[in-house]
Amino acid sequence: MTKVYYECMDDDMVSKDHIQTAFNFRHAAKRFDGTKKIPDSEFELLLEVARLSPSSFGLEPWNIIVVNDDSFRKELLPWCWGAQGQLPTASHFVIFTAKTSAAMLPDAPYAKHALQTVRGLSETEAGEYVAFYKKWLTEDYGRLEAPQLLHEWAARQAYIALGNMMTVAAMRGIDSCAIEGFKIEKVSQLLEARQCIVPKQDLPVVMLALGYRIDPPKPKARRVLNQIVKEV
Ligand SMILES: Cc1cc2nc3c(=O)[nH]c(=O)nc-3n(C[C@H](O)[C@H](O)[C@H](O)COP(=O)(O)O)c2cc1C
Repeated sequence: MTKVYYECMDDDMVSKDHIQTAFNFRHAAKRFDGTKKIPDSEFELLLEVARLSPSSFGLEPWNIIVVNDDSFRKELLPWCWGAQGQLPTASHFVIFTAKTSAAMLPDAPYAKHALQTVRGLSETEAGEYVAFYKKWLTEDYGRLEAPQLLHEWAARQAYIALGNMMTVAAMRGIDSCAIEGFKIEKVSQLLEARQCIVPKQDLPVVMLALGYRIDPPKPKARRVLNQIVKEV
């Protein structure tokens, strides 16, 4: 019988030191060495890590836009105050979009469609699952009383993939910077003009610049553990 992952795991695979080193290596890179490109196989791994990331109800309510075109980066630049150093120098630049609240409503086609096409559920099974989703949104999570929150909830799922990408990038010696410093409305318009989104369905929520550092990072500033963790 094939062994499960934890049964095969030893320190050569992912040592505690390796994890700690990667988390200390990762920092918010403000600009990158523009001469260095992330190899395709490494970038493909990062996309795969995003793809395999979990999402609530398995709805995967987000997408990734990879901005390869330099002229599009130049168009984005005036509207991305938080990416002034990263946009022109990053090896790869990614924009996460998340489903709008309208698209996340249980009666909208997205959820049922996703469950049928991705999970292979039958029409009836997908219908039952969506009914359960609606019940949870109404009775437990209270999100249908303030439906605009559904987009924020979708964005949270995108941030799980974002975090996984940044962590694995660091483990592979790749630098990164998450970016929220941009004008959502303007970036949405630019993405729509390039036919990357239909704004009624998807909106940009966060960006990720990836590449190789050119400046040394600042020392880490973090709260100490006992300010963060409470035990009961
Ligand atoms: C969701 C998110 C959004 C961020 N947005 C920006 C940004 O727009 N521009 C930027 O230079 N840094 C941005 N940062 C980087 C943070 O400022 C940085 O992670 C934080 O100060 C901690 O520093 P460190 O990542 O170097 O440890 C963002 C980080 C996160 C997680």
